[in-house]
Amino acid sequence: MPRATVARIDLAALRRNFQTARARAGAARSMAVVKADGYGHGIRQVARALADDAPKFAVACLEEALAIREAGLSQAVVLLQGVHARGDLADCEHQGFEPVLHSRQQLDWLVRGQARPAFWLKVNTGMNRLGFRPDTLPSVVETLAVGGGRAGLLGFVTHFACADDTGSPMTAEQTAVFEAATAAWPDLMKSVGNSAAHFLPGQPLYDWSRPGIMLYGGSPVIGQTGPELGLQPVMTLEAPLMTIRTLQAGESVGYGASFVAERETRMGMVAIGYGDGYPRHAGTDTPAAINGQRIRLIGRVSMDMLAVDLTNAPGAREGDLVELWGRTVGVDDVARCAGTIAYELLTGITARVPREYR
Ligand SMILES: Cc1ncc(COP(=O)(O)O)c(C=O)c1O
Repeated sequence: MPRATVARIDLAALRRNFQTARARAGAARSMAVVKADGYGHGIRQVARALADDAPKFAVACLEEALAIREAGLSQAVVLLQGVHARGDLADCEHQGFEPVLHSRQQLDWLVRGQARPAFWLKVNTGMNRLGFRPDTLPSVVETLAVGGGRAGLLGFVTHFACADDTGSPMTAEQTAVFEAATAAWPDLMKSVGNSAAHFLPGQPLYDWSRPGIMLYGGSPVIGQTGPELGLQPVMTLEAPLMTIRTLQAGESVGYGASFVAERETRMGMVAIGYGDGYPRHAGTDTPAAINGQRIRLIGRVSMDMLAVDLTNAPGAREGDLVELWGRTVGVDDVARCAGTIAYELLTGITARVPREYR
């Protein structure tokens, strides 16, 4: 018998979150961002679940786009990192993938090659990771016009650095830079909005928004959880209580003996650890739940197990399932306790944990 540790994926909640994104996107259409294995939820299942609603998908790289084709779906797929090799452009053309070209090298591969995929240009408006500087766009478009490939240019993409921080002026600054940079090509499309941008009042989303984390119920906004923003949790991570024991006052549990019981404490060991992707930095007091009752972690997370304090759950029995995150305990809350963000937790669940879909 395999252990009962599982990530349950609620595909109906995923679809509702996509509808929330669409409603917030106004006149813009929304491409569903399903990179990193659908943020850890399974790219094939997620893409299939959204197939009737999402006119396009977005992924980081070619392998992920091919997984969408393997799932039997024919929508256009945007490759947010462009292509990693010259030959990938032919795959893009044949498969209907739309790379976002961000460098002179990628431009060169296009202009000097035979493949003529539809594509986007990435504009660096201040994130300074990828993209062409605004003042170079005219020469980039000129290179395409002279060398070939200009006909495939769909439009321009940029990405915000601080949209999660509603108090930051940077999103408005980046938007202004983007508008000015692309004004010479009013017939081409524009795409700016990650999930956070859907929650910024007055933020233009132009032709295509690109929601990712919000589809999975995680919060894109600092200081607010997904449910507080009207999003539904999609993944419930559960693991069984393997054993129950009693710590005497003064006894410790786990590596480093970091938790010492102040009084007699009924505790349980749960069959999940950092080898499953549960964050090792989630320390004592990180919330979990059992039978709908909130409990807390105690001590250090091990590779294959962690300890919980069962004082609040006197009815808990061996074999009961502990919710590590889901509807009772928000993934955003666990992320905060672990000093990270829901994105990292959701994408970090390892292959050892089976995904179950409903
Ligand atoms: C270019 C780009 N667009 C959209 C997204 C989706 O962002 P989020 O998950 O914050 O909605 C990402 C994610 O990293 C991205 O890199």
